Parts: sequence; structure tokens; C-alpha cells
Amino acid sequence: MRETAENIVQWQSPSNIAIVKYWGKHGRQLPRNPSLSLTLDAAHTITEVMFTEKENDGKIALEFFFEGEPNPAFKSRIASFLNAIKDELTFLTMYNFRINSYNSFPHSSGIASSASAMSALVMCLCDIERTLQKSEDIDWRKASHLSRLGSGSASRSVISGAALWGTHEKIKHSSDRYAVPVSDIDPVFQSFHDDILIISEEEKSVSSTAGHQLMEGNVYAPARFQQAYDKTTELIEAMAAGDVWKFGQIAEDEALTLHALMMSSQPSYILMKPHTLTAIDQIRKFRKTHKVPVFFTLDAGPNIHLLYPHEHADQVNTLVEETLRALCHNDLIIRDRVGQGPKKLK
Ligand code: DP6
Repeated sequence: MRETAENIVQWQSPSNIAIVKYWGKHGRQLPRNPSLSLTLDAAHTITEVMFTEKENDGKIALEFFFEGEPNPAFKSRIASFLNAIKDELTFLTMYNFRINSYNSFPHSSGIASSASAMSALVMCLCDIERTLQKSEDIDWRKASHLSRLGSGSASRSVISGAALWGTHEKIKHSSDRYAVPVSDIDPVFQSFHDDILIISEEEKSVSSTAGHQLMEGNVYAPARFQQAYDKTTELIEAMAAGDVWKFGQIAEDEALTLHALMMSSQPSYILMKPHTLTAIDQIRKFRKTHKVPVFFTLDAGPNIHLLYPHEHADQVNTLVEETLRALCHNDLIIRDRVGQGPKKLK
């Protein structure tokens, strides 16, 4: 394929960390409850899309490389995603696509990359559509909507700072179809830290997609969906007021609830590891002894996200270096911060 400046786009898009968790979905990737996240920065995917015209035969023509190598498993997920959205991006069947994708974090770190990967790809596609339609700006609601169809949590990665996905009475224009910014937040949360402690790099025994499905038969599901709605109300209020202690309490409650839901699924399963629990114990002890607002959250896996305000970075660094790093696989920690969302590179 001939590569010219006109037929390449490249975007960087970050991962995000949910404080109120999305866990349970229905229909075409619609959430059972609202979720609220902080968009990250250091943990990101860079995706490059090259495209050349072809006859419009109604089919998707795709070559896919992950970190420079052909990757059939990822290719098949991307191909079915592109097929699912070809009515919404009609140019998809008019071009041959060659896609290259790179993650900033080590491939084997056990970090879920679907949020950054899907949103980076969608930003490239929305940018191509913008150019073809000769419009000025990317329609970010459409970008969030399409990212959601790739992976639910990806809908939130296109938003800078704090993002809400799912209809909620406190945020005007919020929707189950796309994420929206939560703008009324205290500056303390704009510079929050998230140190991602890699406890294990093993592949998860149950994928998130399977976990969402198991919520459909979980006896606690109705109470959980109501609880998540109410926690979202509390979190929005805490973030507006700059109440980091309340924020942290909600983050930890949500993390443990998420894992309790896994443990109460049929069949039950556990994604935490012994070092996850040791780290939680150490974080809580340190907080109590030193009165420092440092908290944890977890995604659907064993790794710990250590959340704290920038002004406490030096104190938390002592906890990380003296206690927590030794619990990490290969001593691996990704030091991340709240970020500004996707960036165009080419
Ligand atoms: C625990 O977005 O990975 O991280 O929509 O099936 O792709 P799919 O699921 P995914 O689920 C993420 C769940 C979570 C919580 C969250 O990010 O809100």
C-alpha cells in the first residue's frame, strides 16, 4: 500500500479507571448502571490507520498488526467490530485498511487494554470520517458511542478528566449510549495519581465479557444496579466538594463490591491474588497510621490501582517503595495520572 500524508491517521488514546464500576450490560452494549471514571495518561494505546480506496463491495478489507506483528486474535475482534459499525461509518467498505497498534504498557502486564485500544481505533476512524466529510471537528459523542460498541469502558476514554457513562439525573445530557464529561469537579481530582501495581500478569480465568454475562443470573444484581446509581450520586457530590476521603471510601467499596459480585456469581470465581489482599491491608494500615488519603481500587483482575492527591505524592512514595513494590510481579508499577483524553499524533 502506498503511504502518503493524506492516507494515514494516528491517535493516542488512554485507558481509564472506573471509580463506580460498570458491571452488567444488556442489548447492544448498554450498561445496567451508570459508571464514573478518571481518564488516565501514561497507560495508552497508539493506533495508526492507513487507508486506500477500493471498490465498494460491501465488505471490510483489513490487515492488522499489534506491535509490528500480525495478530490473528486481535484482527478477528477488530474485523467483527468494523462489521458491526459499517452502517454508522459508511466509508468503511470503500477502503482497504492497514492498522498498527502499540500499547505503552508491557504486553504481559495484565492491564486491560480494550478501553485504550478501542478508543484509539475509533478516534482514527472518526478523524477519517471528518476529513472525508470536510468537517471541522470530530463528533465526540459519536466517538464515545462507537467506542462503547467496541468495549463498554472505552466509551469513557474519549473524555478528558472525569467521565460518566449511563443516564443519571444529576448530569444533564448523560446517556446510556455515550459518556459525557463531569465538569464540576474540584481541581484536586484533575491531578490525581494512579499508580498501577502489577500483582500478576497471568491471563484472567474469566474475561470481563463473561463476567458481565454472569451478572444476568446473579441474585444480588437488582440491588447492585440501584447501589451503583446511588454511589454515582454520592461520588458526583464528593468530587464537586473536593472531598477526597469520601471519594476514596466510594472507590474502595466499589472495588470490593465488584469482586464480591464475582464471588457470588454462578459459577463463582476469584480474580484477586494473595498479594492483592496483602497490598490492600498495607494500604489501609498506612492510611490509618499516617492519616494520608491514599486509596485502592481494582478492575476485573488482581492488579491494584493506588489513588491519591498530588500533594501526598512524597508520602505515598514511601509506602510504594518500602512495602508495595515487593508485592508486584517483577517489581512492575505503572505511574499514571489523570489525563486529557485522546491526542492526534498524525
Ligand atoms: C471491571 O469494558 O472490559 O473494568 O464491554 O465487555 O468490553 P466489555 O467490558 P469492559 O468491562 C470493564 C469492567 C470494569 C469496570 C469498568 O471499567 O467500569
